[in-house]
Amino acid sequence: MSTLVVVGAQWGDEGKGKVTDYLSARADMVVRYQGGNNAGHTVVVGDREYRMRLIPSGIFHDKACVIGNGVVLDPAVLVQELDYLAEQGISTQHLRVSGAAHIILPYHIRLDELDEDRRGTLRLGTTRRGIGPAYADKSARIGIRVSEYLNRAVFAEKLRRNLEEKNRALAALYGAPGFDYDVVFSQYQAYAERVRPLVADTSLLINQAIDRGENVLFEGAQGTLLDLDHGTYPYVTSSHPVAGGACIGAGVGPTRIDRVLGTVKAYTTRVGDGPFPSELAGAEGDWIRERGREYGTVTGRPRRCGWLDTTIVRYAARVSGLTHLALTRLDTLAGLERVRICVAYRRDGDIITDFPQELESLEACEPVYVDLPGWPPFKEPDSSADLPGEARRYLEEIEERCRLPLALISLGRERGQTLAITDVFGDPPACRNQAARI
Ligand code: IMO
Ligand code: MG
Repeated sequence: MSTLVVVGAQWGDEGKGKVTDYLSARADMVVRYQGGNNAGHTVVVGDREYRMRLIPSGIFHDKACVIGNGVVLDPAVLVQELDYLAEQGISTQHLRVSGAAHIILPYHIRLDELDEDRRGTLRLGTTRRGIGPAYADKSARIGIRVSEYLNRAVFAEKLRRNLEEKNRALAALYGAPGFDYDVVFSQYQAYAERVRPLVADTSLLINQAIDRGENVLFEGAQGTLLDLDHGTYPYVTSSHPVAGGACIGAGVGPTRIDRVLGTVKAYTTRVGDGPFPSELAGAEGDWIRERGREYGTVTGRPRRCGWLDTTIVRYAARVSGLTHLALTRLDTLAGLERVRICVAYRRDGDIITDFPQELESLEACEPVYVDLPGWPPFKEPDSSADLPGEARRYLEEIEERCRLPLALISLGRERGQTLAITDVFGDPPACRNQAARI
């Protein structure tokens, strides 16, 4: 009975939705702790495919699900997802939303779009969902929390004040039309009634679940290299996908986190702009994109594809304290004659094994590869021992290079196409802090 953070160890889209859904069978509670509807988590159940952006992937196992304080919540999207799940016959009765989460309003989305267009070639390639502007307002202390949103008088006052300022900015910077207070207020009051029954002190709920000895899974969105502090700044998102983000974004202490599972795709992808040393610009990259259907869940953009880069995974292990790896998409690479792993970088004649902190430095890095034989397409094995020898060799190389054990291997989109190697919800380590109660 323990707690587990699932993080993306690359640039997002590692398969966190599939991994979370698979592990949710054993979890009692699943918590989103950062990001918003920039995430696109795909879950396949039987012949149905569900794409969630905001609600935790644990919802498909009818587990207690929490949208934590660290999330930025677009009420319109929440209502859409609630309606969508209801249509699919999936219960959301155990979903709770933190009163301390901040809400995304239409001016955040408009500003995200206009900021991106203005940057031209220096654009960040955001998902244009208002994520950055909403977090900026949170930091500037002019954001609106869910609890404030649900108080009619407080929301009215804050919205009026913010709209005045945002409308002025839209006109002055972009010559763009502003928003009408009455229209936004009444529209968002309607959504508020759907949000109201879900609101709770979620930090308390989560800590109580841990006290009861339940399995709590923290579902990261985005990935390590999109982290505001630890990613490839400025080509990052505005939240903290690393494991430490779970403490802040859910309201749990670091001593209560037992394990951290880094989700790694068998190759690397990136949507949006910014440096990517092991990127494959030609036919090989196209092959991976088509084989893996690597197009964005949220925006439909083609993803940039390249070889697996263990320099990145080791970096993710460092900044998130990974204890295990989950490898996804091993099936996608089947059929290649040889596969490559980027194990280090070459820069100005030097070999670099630690992921560089400065963007300029990363831009100057050339990949250093090891080549391994590819493996043929294979039938679903009962255990990893039944995988083709070349595929096993690839997995061993990853474990050795990353100095971490594989806990889970995903061989396809469905729940059943998964090999579980380690019980990541096993007994918590002896040093675990049990003393949240006084
Ligand atoms: P999941 O959870 C991949 C990227 C965007 C852009 C940058 C900033 O599905 O792994 P933002 O809209 O967050 O301000 O955009 O971050 N990005 C993602 N890339 N997967 C995601 O989520 C992403 N969420 C944001 O493409 O480069
Ligand atoms: Mg995505």
